[in-house]
Amino acid sequence: MLSAVERKIEQFIADLNDKEVTKLYSKLPQGKRLRAKLIFKIAGGSLSVVKTAAIVEMIHAASLLHDDVIDDAYTRRNKPSLNALYGNKTAIMLGDVLYSKGFFELNDISSEVAKTVSNAVVQLSLGELKDVSLSKTFNLDKEVYLEMIYQKTASLMEAAAGAAAVLAGKDKKVYMTYGRNLGIAFQMIDDILDITMDTETLGKPALHDFEEGKTTLPYIYLYEMLSAEEKKKLHSLHRKRLSKEEAQWIKAKMQEHQVIQKSYLEARELVEEAIELMNECGEEALSTIAMQMIERDF
Ligand code: IPE
Ligand code: IPE
Ligand code: MG
Ligand code: MG
Ligand code: MG
Repeated sequence: MLSAVERKIEQFIADLNDKEVTKLYSKLPQGKRLRAKLIFKIAGGSLSVVKTAAIVEMIHAASLLHDDVIDDAYTRRNKPSLNALYGNKTAIMLGDVLYSKGFFELNDISSEVAKTVSNAVVQLSLGELKDVSLSKTFNLDKEVYLEMIYQKTASLMEAAAGAAAVLAGKDKKVYMTYGRNLGIAFQMIDDILDITMDTETLGKPALHDFEEGKTTLPYIYLYEMLSAEEKKKLHSLHRKRLSKEEAQWIKAKMQEHQVIQKSYLEARELVEEAIELMNECGEEALSTIAMQMIERDF
């Protein structure tokens, strides 16, 4: 099923009839294709479903091209990012090409699917914008963090699940709630893995978020637990290149106060809620993919 998605994306790219875009696209390694898998699990594998999955993955790839420019990230999917290889200008414009081809192809599916997915891209962009603004501050407000990750990451999973439900003639609202929960949990785990994993395993920079100014959930919880002196120290390390000792100190404090475990449990609860919701609809098969969102190393 996933190979049908690869072929469909290749066909969308070939339609553009542009040698440079074809070459640049060939430099992008495949990701985990979790959003496509989610769509197939909900809606089966008709042509419209394959097209929708290909569009969502193309949109996701566009968001990563822009994201690596925003985050000054030079590794993606274990290879140099496109901005590292060709510079920001090329990465931004390939992102725009993928986004707009995605929107163009959405018209071919249905008005409801098109509205659902394109609205999610508005939310995703608002979320990334919020992430940029927040990273200039030392955000300690968990509600603000949750709203931002809902917008930048969960909105597309919510829309992917909703669009799949529409295509399968299932209850859109319930599946959107399921996708939303998975998406929020997915970004919480991504933020945890940034701290606990190395670059090689992640295929992208590790311990990079705090240096970029991002106070993700484990940092918000850690700050609450620190003494006044330690709070000052953590704040002074924000948005700075960390030395080995400074990185070690942060990790040791996180270990001491068990904030990774606390954050992980929060993500897990969201996924369990999502699974329960699906069980009520007789969709037990949707629990495996939900667990894959949180039980992962990269
Ligand atoms: C990365 O998404 C961006 C986030 C929303 C955290 P994935 O981890 O799904 O990226 P790929 O597509 O598998 O590389
Ligand atoms: C970005 O979140 C999510 C997107 C909407 C692209 P991150 O910046 O944490 O994603 P990674 O860690 O670079 O994949
Ligand atoms: Mg990033
Ligand atoms: Mg980012
Ligand atoms: Mg990340």
